[in-house]
Parts: sequence; structure tokens; C-alpha cells
Amino acid sequence: MSVMEKIRLVVLISGRGSNLQALLDQAASGELSAEVVAVISNQPGVYGLERARQAGIPALELNHRNFVDRPSFEAALIELIDRYQPDLVILAGFMRLLTAGFTEHYQGRLLNIHPSLLPKFRGLHTHERAIAAGETEHGATIHFVTAELDGGPLIVQARVPVLPGDDPEVLAARVLAQEHRLYPQAIRWFAEGRLKLEGDQVWFDEEPLREPLQLE
Ligand code: GRF
Repeated sequence: MSVMEKIRLVVLISGRGSNLQALLDQAASGELSAEVVAVISNQPGVYGLERARQAGIPALELNHRNFVDRPSFEAALIELIDRYQPDLVILAGFMRLLTAGFTEHYQGRLLNIHPSLLPKFRGLHTHERAIAAGETEHGATIHFVTAELDGGPLIVQARVPVLPGDDPEVLAARVLAQEHRLYPQAIRWFAEGRLKLEGDQVWFDEEPLREPLQLE
């Protein structure tokens, strides 16, 4: 793949799709040398699908409830994704646990965004938990995905302060604004060939990454 060639993204969502929108906007403006070739939601009727349609991109529903078990859902999901031959598969608010069968199929080309400074606060309700823990700093992390929930190799983080009087909604909004800068940046690095995964090791600019990068 030449550096100038646009990389192909398939984006998986379960909800409102504001991170998807950030990618669509940057791809449209040329800030991101990538093309969203399909958007897939496991939840029917979510607003993120409407965003895809408005951008003229295939908006596909694959309802996990129609499958007898997780492996059969994932087999259908892989089949659907691979029709679009993505260079990267982007989890953007995709709320299903994934098994090793799925994550290994996309080893090194599957990214997730998680709204905490991993390894802190894996799982749900991160903003509430950060406030309850008395954190003074919080944020979001992009990582390569493995079968361990929110446990794959870390790539880049954006940090925000936790301010006195913050409630989870206010803090979530502060983090989300950074998420919308963070995901395009990680994908840009991947598209430029600066970011890759070898085994469990993230490489950035030909150097093994020991700590996650920090967004300026
Ligand atoms: C984001 O906070 C993301 O970090 C988390 O789910 C949320 C998705 O939001 N994984 P949106 O659907 O992109 O607006």
C-alpha cells in the first residue's frame, strides 16, 4: 500500500456514532487519508446508521439477537466485514464482547476506543467510576483489540482534567470531545505506515512503544 493510497475502514457501532461522524468528517475534508467503506451495527435503527446513510455509505444491520450464539454471530460479522476488504476494522462504541476467533482474524488491524486512561477503568461506567475514585485526570485510549476486554496493546491516549463538581455527563462530554480528535489521529498514523502491531508489541516510527503515546 502506498502512503498516498486511502485505507479502507469498516466501522462497527452500536449507537449514536459520534466517533464515526468524526471519521466521516475528516475523511471528507481530506484530513484523514481513509475511506469508510461500510458501517455495521449490531443494534437495529441506531442513529449512527443514519449518519452513514447521509454520507452515502452502506449502513448495515446485523442483529446479534438473530443468532443462536456468539460464534455464529461473529462468523456472520466476519463474512459481512470481509466483503468490504478493509485495511482496518474500527470499533466505535461497539458494545459486544468479541471472542478470540474474531480478534485473531483481525489481528493487527482491529482498533477500539475506550473512554478511560487504560489500564484504569476497563468495562462500563468509566466516567462515574473515575469521579468516585477521586481521579484528577481522566481520558480516552485507542488500543489494538485482543480477546481480553479493553486489554489489548495501548496506542495513544488523550487526557482531560476531572474538575470539582463534575458529574458523569459533564466529564463524558469533555472526554468525548477529545475522542473525536484521538481516533482520526491513530488511524492517520496507521494509514501513513507509522503504526503497527507485531505479536503483542505496538511499533511506532520503527520503535517499540513502551508507553502509550499522548495526544498533544
Ligand atoms: C464512546 O465514549 C466510546 O469511547 C465508547 O462508546 C462511546 C461511543 O460513542 N466506546 P459514539 O457512538 O461514538 O458517539
